[in-house]
Amino acid sequence: MASVMLAIRRTTPKCGADVSGIDLSQPIDESCIADLRSALADHGVLFFRDQRMTPEQQKAFGRRFGELHLHPAWPRLLEGHPEIMEIYADADSKRIAGEDWHSDVSCDPEPPLGTLLYMLEVPSVGGDTLFASMYAAYDALSAPMKRMLEGMTALHDGETTYRGRYEGMNEAASYPSAEHPVIRTHPVSGRKALFVNRIFTRRILQLEKHESDAVLEMLFRHIETPEFHCRFRWQPGSVAFWDNRCVQHHALWDYYPQRRRGLRVTIKGERPFYRP
Ligand code: SIN
Repeated sequence: MASVMLAIRRTTPKCGADVSGIDLSQPIDESCIADLRSALADHGVLFFRDQRMTPEQQKAFGRRFGELHLHPAWPRLLEGHPEIMEIYADADSKRIAGEDWHSDVSCDPEPPLGTLLYMLEVPSVGGDTLFASMYAAYDALSAPMKRMLEGMTALHDGETTYRGRYEGMNEAASYPSAEHPVIRTHPVSGRKALFVNRIFTRRILQLEKHESDAVLEMLFRHIETPEFHCRFRWQPGSVAFWDNRCVQHHALWDYYPQRRRGLRVTIKGERPFYRP
């Protein structure tokens, strides 16, 4: 077992932490995994630099946090590794993954706990990923707005999001949809987080459609508040590990026609719940 001297430093006051002193390719003891689990729940996203992992090592690290998730729609998987999505864009790309604020696959009845993206190739400039703390977004709502949203649920729909979205998709596939609390309680930190996002959330089910549209638009704009954010500038060998239960992210495609390539492992989560 490799010896680990973890150092964890906040990236911004509200979101993210830079982690050093750990080699993710090596076996890691349980107490260090417990520290990472709690840092992930506190900071929402952890950033690691200068890592080198084989696909097997990346999956082994991911499995320390739970079973691996299989994406319902992404067509570009690493050969021989159905649990690894190849995140790739170049001059021929028509779309990239995650080009708006979202929490990964929130349309699943049990959406992913976390996502581990290992970057291999970056453009000369650009291709950063933005992260937003949904604890901070919840905390900043007024008391009357919190009271209204607590206990409400929203529809997250995979069909309208994924159908025809990426080239090379299996046209016969069907996509999940799910009803989730608008405010969810994080199972590790116990904190409350806003859980609606522009890519997947279609309707707050207790409101009339025009009311739901207006409230969702207000919340989607609220999530864009810069004070809730941090921004990660990738290098080859950088890893971001984000907690989909309390952050959203947004991948920037400002580097076209350059190439960017990374490998993504996603960890299964639990059914979201709200505890007053
Ligand atoms: C994603 O998994 O949503 C893509 C993130 C990225 O490419 O930075």
